[in-house]
Amino acid sequence: MINKNHLLAPSLLASDFAQLANEVDMLNNSEADWLHLDVMDGRFVPNISFGMMIVDCISKLTDKPLDVHLMIVEPEKYIEEFARAGASVISVHAEACPHLHRTIQQIKDAGAQAGVALNPHTPISAIEDVIEDIDLVVIMSVNPGFGGQKFIYRTIPKVRALANMIEERNSKAMIEVDGGIGLQNAGAVLEAGARVLVAGSSVFKSENPVKTIQRFKEIGVHQ
Ligand code: DX5
Ligand code: ZN
Repeated sequence: MINKNHLLAPSLLASDFAQLANEVDMLNNSEADWLHLDVMDGRFVPNISFGMMIVDCISKLTDKPLDVHLMIVEPEKYIEEFARAGASVISVHAEACPHLHRTIQQIKDAGAQAGVALNPHTPISAIEDVIEDIDLVVIMSVNPGFGGQKFIYRTIPKVRALANMIEERNSKAMIEVDGGIGLQNAGAVLEAGARVLVAGSSVFKSENPVKTIQRFKEIGVHQ
């Protein structure tokens, strides 16, 4: 069954950076729940996007929670700075954290909600022993680094298995799915147990982003 209280987190990676304030304003006037901010360092992923200075600028333009996805090596070096810049949720990649348990505590101590992201090839067993400690699991449905990639369908059974693990362990963690999500596959992702959808290209490259966001929010509501 689809969780009718799902959240939509548009990813600004697909927005027009020359019009950043206008893009944030558009999201402010939409039904978007969170703003998803993709931080890339050219080391953990092959691409470079932006860092805490831009997160700080965006935080001054919106009251919506900032969902910061760190695709960087050694994220523990920058947690406090991202929290100070206004991040509400900070997600680190399990693959980038040899001391994941400690990094999760660090995020919480910095006053943010703690998320852990898993690449498509990383099994959910990688977070089994921290599942009670985290607020969010980000299941990557593309290989991180770029927007506009094709959704990997193996994600659906992975989300379903994770939803079972979360229930069995009585964890409060929400499942977020990130990459290649559009109106055509969002229902299946929610059905599998996701609570938060990230959508970059499908929102920003659409003719009417506000309307597209509304459509995403309506999925499951009339079923
Ligand atoms: C990929 C990023 C995603 C990306 C999603 O590395 O983590 O958040 O912006 O973009 P779309 O929805 O276009 O796949
Ligand atoms: Zn992301």
